Amino acid sequence: MNHRIQLDRYKQEIADLYTRRSPTYDSSDWHFQIARRLVEFGQVSSGQQVLDIATGTGHAALATAEIVGSTGRVVGVDIAAGMLDRARQKALELNLNNTELLLADAETLDFANNSFDRIFCSSAFIWMSDLHSALTLWHKFLKPGGIIGIHAFADTAFVAGVVTQKVAEKYGIAFNMSKPTGTVEKCHSLLENAGFEKVDIKIEQNGSYITLEKAKSMWAGISHPAPGQYPPPLSALSPEDLAQAKTEFEVELAALETECGVWNDITTFYVSGRKSVEGTRKILSC
Ligand SMILES: C[S@@+](CC[C@H](N)C(=O)[O-])C[C@H]1O[C@@H](n2cnc3c(N)ncnc32)[C@H](O)[C@@H]1O
Repeated sequence: MNHRIQLDRYKQEIADLYTRRSPTYDSSDWHFQIARRLVEFGQVSSGQQVLDIATGTGHAALATAEIVGSTGRVVGVDIAAGMLDRARQKALELNLNNTELLLADAETLDFANNSFDRIFCSSAFIWMSDLHSALTLWHKFLKPGGIIGIHAFADTAFVAGVVTQKVAEKYGIAFNMSKPTGTVEKCHSLLENAGFEKVDIKIEQNGSYITLEKAKSMWAGISHPAPGQYPPPLSALSPEDLAQAKTEFEVELAALETECGVWNDITTFYVSGRKSVEGTRKILSC
C-alpha cells in the first residue's frame, strides 16, 4: 500500500514520469542487467540487511532478496507508486517475504544509523536533487564496514544528451545530464567527500550504433524532467529559440552519422565505497 508523500515539483514530475513508464519498464532487460552487475559487485551474502534506493520495479531489491534469504531483509524505496506496485507484484510472484517496498523519497529517509550492510542505487543516483547530501545521509544508514554500490553513466554517454548539451551551451544554457557523476574523478570525490573509503570504480565500455532517426527522436525538449535540474533547462528558451535549437540538434547529429549509424556511447560506472569499520565519517581537509 502506498501512503501519500510530500514531493516538490521536480520530484513529483519524476514520480509521474516513472509511474507512466511502469507498465512497460521491464520490457527491456537493460536496467535489469545493470542492477544485476551492481549487486554482483556488492558481494551480498546470506543474512544481510540491504537498502535499495530508488528501487523502481525492484531489479536490485529482488535479486538481493534471493541472496540474503530468510534471515536477511531488503528494503526498497521509490517515489513512483506505479513502479513500486510492479515491484510488489513481482515480490509476491517470487514468494519473497523478506522484502519491504516503501513509497519514500530517498533524500529524506529516516532509518536508524548503522542499520544496513549494503546500500544500492541503480540507474537512479543522478535523479537526486543534492548528490552530496544524499550520499552523506545514506552513509549514516550503513553499518561500519558496510558497502554502498552506485551506478552512474560517463559524461560521454547518450549521444542525444551530449549533443543537446553542446547546442544548449550556444544559448548560454547549462544542461547537466550525466556531468555531475560523469568522470571517475567526480565519482571518487562524491563518495570520498561523503565519508566513504576504499572507493572503487569499475568501468564498462558499452554502446551501440543507432539510426539517425532514432537519435533525433531522443531530443530532450522540455517535456521531461532533467536530472538534477528544475525546471528543465531548455524551458528558459523562447518557443522560437527552442525550435531553432532542435534544428541545430538534428544537424549536429547528422554530422555524426556514419555508414553504421550514429554511435551511442553508454560508458557505465559501477562505483562502490565502504563505511570505515570505526563507523565514523572521515572529514576531508580542503
Ligand atoms: C531508471 S529508474 C531505476 C529503477 C531501478 N533502480 C532499476 O535499476 O531499474 C529511476 C527510478 O528512480 C526513482 N527516483 C528518482 N528520484 C527518487 C527519489 N528522490 N527517491 C526515490 N526514488 C527516486 C524513480 O521513481 C525511478 O523509479
